[in-house]
Amino acid sequence: MYELRILDAVQFNELVSMDDIIPGVEEAYRLYSSGKAGLFPILNREFDPGRIDMDIKAGYLDDADIYGLKIIGWNRDNPALLGVPALAGLIVVMSIERQQPIGLLEASPVTFLRTGAAGAVGAKTLARPASESAVIVGAGSQGRAQLMGLTKVMKNLKRVSIFDMTDNTANKMAMEAASQYPGITVTAGLFAELEEHVRSSDILVTCTPSKQAFIGNGWLKRGAHVNAIGADIPGKGEIDPELLASASVFGDSRSQVSQKGESQHAVALGLIAAESITEIGEVLNGTKRGRMSDDEITLFDATGMALQDLLSAKIAFARAEVRRVGTIVKIEQENL
Ligand SMILES: NC(=O)c1ccc[n+]([C@@H]2O[C@H](COP(=O)([O-])OP(=O)(O)OC[C@H]3O[C@@H](n4cnc5c(N)ncnc54)[C@H](O)[C@@H]3O)[C@@H](O)[C@H]2O)c1
Repeated sequence: MYELRILDAVQFNELVSMDDIIPGVEEAYRLYSSGKAGLFPILNREFDPGRIDMDIKAGYLDDADIYGLKIIGWNRDNPALLGVPALAGLIVVMSIERQQPIGLLEASPVTFLRTGAAGAVGAKTLARPASESAVIVGAGSQGRAQLMGLTKVMKNLKRVSIFDMTDNTANKMAMEAASQYPGITVTAGLFAELEEHVRSSDILVTCTPSKQAFIGNGWLKRGAHVNAIGADIPGKGEIDPELLASASVFGDSRSQVSQKGESQHAVALGLIAAESITEIGEVLNGTKRGRMSDDEITLFDATGMALQDLLSAKIAFARAEVRRVGTIVKIEQENL
């Protein structure tokens, strides 16, 4: 018999916040780039491209004694047709030593926080600390997570402009965010005017499922930093690949970003070499350099790693045990 702890979205959000997950994600990057944690190949399928897809990401953390996977599905039409979120799934956490399950969590709030935290770590590590302005393209779940992450780490951030292919969606998010972040001026811009806003912005975040680049080469100002979040499977891309050739490119996992991330197109076109991409964990561990000058354009390509989910789950389970939160299911086993 083993005991399985199950946490739903409300319980997870009561136990942890963005402030807890940012150091967890930083740790996941460090461990991955020092070989103390690893990833298994990602499985994904687009059942109906642009409408329904799923992926399974798995990994292990030796010192934390955990391994596991996240299975997550997305149906674009679920909010409108079923009144439920587009994303849903489960994270399964196992003990390496005991080889028994530890717990199960609803995956979408973990994805929200750990991806917002990825953007936060990217900006904190690579953007100019004096950055005052940001443009976020994509006013969905990740637009909100990315904004939350940036506000935690960019202490000089004063202005954020939100864009979406649907201008009303950008307006809605900007209105919500204006009251949520009173110290920052959050406005929505017209998608048709994106270029002029990007040209004057210190930070750019792209977080849409686009398969067509909408950020042009030469749009970024000197010293700008980009968090490229949306491209996480082959075929997706938000930024002209030529732009990556003139930027310093960083990624969560070199092999993942060169095959599935924003960098995939620049690598396939021979504009950059996969080996030239620096892992952010290498910068955090001090084995490679990050930004080298205030004029440099830095780009952090985040494809998402199971390790971010697993470390976030570990933090939540540890707190849940102390506070006795969640449902404990006793699973009987049989010696066959
Ligand atoms: N890198 C990671 O770890 C990670 C984690 C989670 C999600 N993602 C990816 O981020 C993307 C966004 O996810 P989400 O959960 O926020 O989705 P969402 O559906 O909640 O929001 C996406 C938003 O982008 C807008 N949009 C779509 N195409 C656009 C375009 N071409 N130009 C401008 N706006 C456009 C949509 O109108 C929508 O408002 C997806 O590709 C998702 O797979 C990546």
